[in-house]
Amino acid sequence: MHADFWHQKWLNNDIGFHQSVVNPFLNTHFSALNLKPNSRVLVPLCGKSGDMVWLLAEGFRVVGAELNEGAVRQFFAERGIEPEISSFDGADCFSYQNIDIWVGDLFALTSDMIGQVDAVYDRAALVALPAEMRSDYANKLIELSHSSPQLLITYCYDQSVVAGPPFSVGAAEVASHYHQHYRVVELERKNVAGGMKGKCAADESVWLLENRESA
Ligand SMILES: C[S@@+](CC[C@H](N)C(=O)[O-])C[C@H]1O[C@@H](n2cnc3c(N)ncnc32)[C@H](O)[C@@H]1O
Repeated sequence: MHADFWHQKWLNNDIGFHQSVVNPFLNTHFSALNLKPNSRVLVPLCGKSGDMVWLLAEGFRVVGAELNEGAVRQFFAERGIEPEISSFDGADCFSYQNIDIWVGDLFALTSDMIGQVDAVYDRAALVALPAEMRSDYANKLIELSHSSPQLLITYCYDQSVVAGPPFSVGAAEVASHYHQHYRVVELERKNVAGGMKGKCAADESVWLLENRESA
């Protein structure tokens, strides 16, 4: 999935991945991360997700990363907020109170830019990327977050019936990306109502990734 694919999606408002309500797994399971108040949560490939607002309302700080500047502008505009825009190493960061959203390719961001990260919330990010990018993506998150705990949401379905994104990422693959650094626990799995794009049965899983050293 190259940048143009996503820019085109935002340009055409073809954003079926965007949820108008808070993800139910976030509500139910984020507390499993056992974070202190004011912890800073990295939301990779964040789009204009309202889940970030939920995190803020729960007393966390948020740092997002999103390729498409229009998506980031929409996130703030839809809430009537005028963000401050700063630049660092050629990338723009949109900030307001406890949220910073970096505009650009996640792979080009560095720890110096992103700053403190205490946890990661991955919804529609790992599964948005094709197989050949997912290992580099997982390693990038480990680097940026210093193996902070994660709440990760994935789909599992027959990839031969439906082409992603979202891609099918099963238990074995989640483990292959993360088991060296994390204890990987599936917290819940449920059927996707209506299946994947109405074409085949699909499950949605939520995973807790706990740093092996602090678990
Ligand atoms: C499937 S959407 C999910 C958005 C969000 N996580 C949500 O739950 O609504 C994937 C998003 O990742 C962004 N994206 C794709 N590749 C990216 C990259 N390399 N760096 C930063 N953002 C990226 C796309 O522009 C798109 O908004």
